[in-house]
Amino acid sequence: MHTPVLTNEVLGLLDPRPGQFVLDGTVGSGGHALELLKKILPDGKLLAIDADRYSILAAERTLVAAFGREIVGSHVIFEHDTYARAAQAVSRHGFPLVHAALLDLGFSSDQIDSADRPPRGFSFLSDEPLLMTYNDETVAVRDFLPELSVADLVKILREFGEERYAMKIATAIKERERVRPFLTTRDLSETITAAIPPRYARGRIHPATRTFMALRIYANQELNQLKLFLADISLIVATGGRVGVISFHSLEDRLVKRDFLALAKENRGRIITKKPVTASANEIRQNARARSAKFRVLELGSNTL
Ligand SMILES: C[S@@+](CC[C@H](N)C(=O)[O-])C[C@H]1O[C@@H](n2cnc3c(N)ncnc32)[C@H](O)[C@@H]1O
Repeated sequence: MHTPVLTNEVLGLLDPRPGQFVLDGTVGSGGHALELLKKILPDGKLLAIDADRYSILAAERTLVAAFGREIVGSHVIFEHDTYARAAQAVSRHGFPLVHAALLDLGFSSDQIDSADRPPRGFSFLSDEPLLMTYNDETVAVRDFLPELSVADLVKILREFGEERYAMKIATAIKERERVRPFLTTRDLSETITAAIPPRYARGRIHPATRTFMALRIYANQELNQLKLFLADISLIVATGGRVGVISFHSLEDRLVKRDFLALAKENRGRIITKKPVTASANEIRQNARARSAKFRVLELGSNTL
């Protein structure tokens, strides 16, 4: 099962208390949600959002196993949606603004290899349909790939993947497409591996890593979703409440840093983490995903509070 990252740091810095209203915008398999709920019960409420309905089901299973159906039924509201619409979800349920909000970005290990959900193509290590989206409403990679020009593809691979062989990979993808469209992850990862110099192909990371990451970020408009969430933050989090974002990609972390700074400069928030919080060596030993995690926290309200 997916192991949540930086759990102690999340609890320490978001500081959820009994009776509070808390948002988990990327509930995933419910690892963080479980710990947040422990802190806010018996009277608090959790709004749990995820763009993948299988994540919602997994989170529900985790929370019901820990607290029972009755508590979960009366203290947790599940929303299958994007966290970019969190402000609407908060107001739709008639709640006051939240005391703490958490985003833990990207995809979870359960979305890669779990027997209880259909594969979505996040991993190049197994052969899966080339989707890379969190739901069927979002246009899948296999469907938009043929629409992109070499130049579009190069831009995506450079911008979201910082891929140095973007031109070679994009050209190879477009050439292969003329013969047969890409339908599976293996199909795509083999083309990428064949396109780049063998020395790089034998390097530290799999040669398809950066292309897959870039296409996933582009397919799901991940940076835009984050921008929309941060733009709405004062409609989501109450004055004195805290928002925390765990990111795994430098572009996401830069965006969070920039928007938190802008809010602090406008005197609408106070930065709690001057530098991003990262995982301890011990946590990284136990959970490799934690290696690239960066956690930033902002407290809403006047800087001078
Ligand atoms: C890293 S996992 C979260 C893991 C979770 N914190 C836990 O402890 O199990 C990220 C989750 O965010 C979801 N997600 C990705 N983009 C989203 C978006 N725009 N809106 C809502 N959920 C999203 C994914 O479906 C995935 O379940």
